[in-house]
Amino acid sequence: MAPSELPERNLALDLVRVTEAAALASARWLGKGDKKSGDRSAVDAMRLSFNALDVSGRVVIGEGEKDEAPMLYNGEEIGTGSPPKVDVAVDPVEGTKLLAYGRPNAISVAGLAPSGSMYAPGASYYMRKLVVPAPAKDSVELNAPVRENLTRVAAALDKDVQDLVVFVLDKPRHEELISRIREAGARIQLHTDGDIAGALMAVDPDSEVDVLLGTGGTPEGVLSACAIKALGGEMLCSLDPQKDRERQALLEQGVDLEQVLSTRDLINSDDVYFAATGISAGGFLAGVRYTGSGATTHSLVTRGKTGTIRRIEATHSWDRLMRFSAVEYD
Ligand code: FBP
Repeated sequence: MAPSELPERNLALDLVRVTEAAALASARWLGKGDKKSGDRSAVDAMRLSFNALDVSGRVVIGEGEKDEAPMLYNGEEIGTGSPPKVDVAVDPVEGTKLLAYGRPNAISVAGLAPSGSMYAPGASYYMRKLVVPAPAKDSVELNAPVRENLTRVAAALDKDVQDLVVFVLDKPRHEELISRIREAGARIQLHTDGDIAGALMAVDPDSEVDVLLGTGGTPEGVLSACAIKALGGEMLCSLDPQKDRERQALLEQGVDLEQVLSTRDLINSDDVYFAATGISAGGFLAGVRYTGSGATTHSLVTRGKTGTIRRIEATHSWDRLMRFSAVEYD
């Protein structure tokens, strides 16, 4: 008979309150052209909500080094300090420009994993990524030609290559990649920003995206891995410094730039929790909708160990919330 255990606390159900708070606070800045204020209000709300979380957390993926980020900086201890000890990854606004210009897919995201199990990016800002859904997870190689990988994904999904949709960030560095995808015959969704949403869409069988290809942020890669552990699928990646200074710093740290990392290398535990809340409306999560007396939010909540995936629609009502909330939402 299979081993049985009593249900444990699902930290993602606490974590979603943190991403909801950040989304509710920052969505006020939708389309206002002010990247900094949108991000700041999300960071403030997220930091306050984290104070209530019963964990002993250390920020591994945060807002940057302590001298440049007053809150949620890398290395900051957060949570109430009670067990369990966890590594924390946050991106209060993933897609600050998407929010500032009112474009789709700005989301607030956070992940938790047992202390010591999360990949710390160090001096790395960028990584080259290949994200595929579960049926294709064993059939791709990061360094295989684009056409070959797309052919293999199409076969695994029982589709033709021309049926596939590939998510690519619309950046000059991807000119050649885009040509290769077009030559192979696949279709492309170009997005100015937001490759966590892209990775989540690639592994979601209900989304029209089948694959994510290209170079995006390293912190975003680790956060995507937190979710992929539950959603299934695979992310293969390698560090891809975009500036000499980044490359030099990594080489000085003895980092192997050729090494191919998998989801498992980024999060070395199944006991991982992830939450994302939509800020601006997107194909993946609906955005915050203010109703006058409150707001509704849509979130994705996952637990790696059990593979449970929840989509949570929450209704927030200002008159009650504002009686005791430390965050100003209305
Ligand atoms: P921010 O929210 O920090 O602006 O990140 C948005 C984003 O598009 C990420 O989704 C992506 O991983 C990264 O920026 C790509 O970086 P760049 O815009 O420098 O190419």
